[in-house]
Amino acid sequence: MPKHYLMCRPDFFAVEYAINPWMDPDAGADREVAVRQWEGLKAAYEELGHQVSLIDPIEGLPDMVFAANGALVAGGRVYGARFAFPERAAEGPAYLRWFSERGYPTHEPVHVNEGEGDFLAMDEVILAGTGFRTSREAHNEAQEFLGRPVVSLQLVDPRFYHLDTALFPLHGRNIAYYPGAFSEGSRSVLRRMFPDAVIAGADDAEVLGLNAVSDGRNIVINSEAHDLQLDLKRRGYEVIPVELGELRKAGGGPKCCTLEIRGEN
Ligand code: ARG
Repeated sequence: MPKHYLMCRPDFFAVEYAINPWMDPDAGADREVAVRQWEGLKAAYEELGHQVSLIDPIEGLPDMVFAANGALVAGGRVYGARFAFPERAAEGPAYLRWFSERGYPTHEPVHVNEGEGDFLAMDEVILAGTGFRTSREAHNEAQEFLGRPVVSLQLVDPRFYHLDTALFPLHGRNIAYYPGAFSEGSRSVLRRMFPDAVIAGADDAEVLGLNAVSDGRNIVINSEAHDLQLDLKRRGYEVIPVELGELRKAGGGPKCCTLEIRGEN
């Protein structure tokens, strides 16, 4: 089944403030390299037969390339983002406008949440992270607007500040994750819900290997996540490694650059 993704070209990408431990404004980042790597990610999706739509980047919003944070879309309904840090605040309305202009039913959020960075939609439930960015109140707000059960998970390691830096759905009913990013209680929840999950180690997590995108068959993943790639291949997945090192300097990987537009169902 082809997917529909929304992406944002990193034309104004930079590391000029630090809102997560990956970001070092003194070291900065090379925008040209970032654009080239991002083009590679977009091409990988298109080669897999997926549709990529684009939102115009806005000058002065260097993190807007991380489209996953722009909203949560499920069943064709769009729950908007409300960013935790003022540096990214203007991205929320920009992404919401993109959807409302195209006729999607949208909800302007009351509570702080960073879209698909912290919400991962599966067949029966939506997994939701909290601890660094998205608030628990937003988990309730999303559940009410989308009419789907939301399961709250507590993040405890600042390097894994969004749920999508530590966990990704392999398909609608199973996941891969790095246990070290979660509280004891949330680890138990994950073990109960997903006894057959792929468990990643620290080496793969530390190169943002869990920030991957699966269409159920093909998995687009940071090239440096070696062990995880082997595990996934052993499980029968097609692995598509991508090089996104420049965007990792802002704390992002393939999933961060990708907002899935999920239609009616
Ligand atoms: N610099 C961005 C931030 O800290 C990176 C966002 C990464 N996005 C994600 N979905 N994990 O907000």
